Amino acid sequence: MNDATSTSYDRVAYPSVCHIDMHPSVIGAVAALCGHTAIPRENYRVLEIGCGSGANLMSMALAAPESRFVGIDLAPSAIAIANNVAASAGLSNVRFETCNILDAGIPKGPYDYIIAHGVYAWVPGAVRERMMRLSGEMLSENGVAVFSYNVFPGCRLREGLRDMLLSVTKGIEDPVKKLERGRALLAYQIDGWNEGDPYAAAMKMEAAAALKRDPYVLYHDELGECFEPQMLGDVVALARANGLDYLGDSHVSLMAEALFPGPRVESARGWTDGDWVKFEQMLDFTMMRRFRRSILVRAGKVGDRRFDPARLVGLFADADLTQDEPDAQKPEIATFRTPSEEEIKTGNPYVVALLKSLGEAYPGALDLGKYAREHELSEHFLDALVSGALTLRTRPLACTSQPGPRPLASALARAQAATGEMNVASIKGGAAKLGDAGIVAFLLLLDGTRTLDDLARAMAEKMRVSFDEAEARTPSVLAHLAKLGVIVA
Ligand SMILES: C[S@@+](CC[C@H](N)C(=O)[O-])C[C@H]1O[C@@H](n2cnc3c(N)ncnc32)[C@H](O)[C@@H]1O
Repeated sequence: MNDATSTSYDRVAYPSVCHIDMHPSVIGAVAALCGHTAIPRENYRVLEIGCGSGANLMSMALAAPESRFVGIDLAPSAIAIANNVAASAGLSNVRFETCNILDAGIPKGPYDYIIAHGVYAWVPGAVRERMMRLSGEMLSENGVAVFSYNVFPGCRLREGLRDMLLSVTKGIEDPVKKLERGRALLAYQIDGWNEGDPYAAAMKMEAAAALKRDPYVLYHDELGECFEPQMLGDVVALARANGLDYLGDSHVSLMAEALFPGPRVESARGWTDGDWVKFEQMLDFTMMRRFRRSILVRAGKVGDRRFDPARLVGLFADADLTQDEPDAQKPEIATFRTPSEEEIKTGNPYVVALLKSLGEAYPGALDLGKYAREHELSEHFLDALVSGALTLRTRPLACTSQPGPRPLASALARAQAATGEMNVASIKGGAAKLGDAGIVAFLLLLDGTRTLDDLARAMAEKMRVSFDEAEARTPSVLAHLAKLGVIVA
């Protein structure tokens, strides 16, 4: 598309990704943990602003068939893809519209969840103001808005990179040539920067990270038309001017001090006068924060965020955990590991039992209601949550680890895979990376009509291997897909 209505996102598509930390079930759980327990948990209405080609919103619509979802985006090509995939997946509770945030045409609310991932700091100030005004007007009484954005001071280095990249790519219109030139500059500078100089060493690290990212992300971020990281304090000031307030961040790891205030809160008091937003702003300075996912609620709805076990009622937790063999030197300590090799060590027998049950139940979830009565246990549990190893939700996952005799993959994952997409929506909320064409072909067969024998026969034909070979591989591929969160039965 290259006519007058096409945008930079039509010329270079943005990778379509599902964001677990934007999912109503996950945001709702964090909001409830922070005391906003009246958050709607079913039959909710969701608006996603700047939804791109819709994978994120469709994964939510799949998980909550009784709820209604609307996605808007300025890029017509992205909306066309979203509508096509939604139709082939048979998702009747979601609709997508090409629409400019600045225009009056956004379908009227109220909405219980207003979501914008990667938009707020990628648009000019006037659009940001409009996003906040719309949210103030359209958010339901007990609803939440969640905006993710790049933040200062961490993103100052990225701004430095952007200056250099814009300088060497000035005047280049062709996206492929622009990206090639930009990436070549990064590689050149990485060799040239002297590690002995702390500034150069920091830039070197930043440039290496930029080179590792999907090139299309680099095109729309550092090389993009608008790259405007924010200060938390400014975001909250604009929210407050529009009848909203700041509740917390959808990454529970950022909420540790809010849930369990420690000496840090006291020691910063001289700078914050006890103001929570000023405190979090100070934390951003200390942590050199780069990204936030801010949860906003209606003014007057922010109460005491400190941990109260009663708030665990109606929440579920899941965790992909495996337990290490016991250490002969310290047999009383159990070590659990996440797939990304994060470790949780504990000697508390209650917590060991809890983490064991979580690992065994995965991708199923544990109902946390019973832990609400055991204060000590729930605090330990919260430690694990804050470490990022567990996901808290307002409803359990609808995927299974035990595929039935005629395995069924989610209709959305199949519809996405049919378009050639290698990263399909996981029911867990993130992206399921399929990895290779054989797995895509296998996934497409999982429509609930085939037995394991049928699947092996079909795969033997497709992949030109013997039936025995295909039959031997079938259980492990199926288990792999179940772990990715794409199998529903
Ligand atoms: C960086 S992309 C993020 C896409 C998606 N939310 C994600 O995180 O994968 C920003 C999106 O905002 C959309 N956008 C930018 N300005 C807009 C506007 N004025 N109105 C509606 N959408 C807009 C773009 O078309 C693009 O799809």
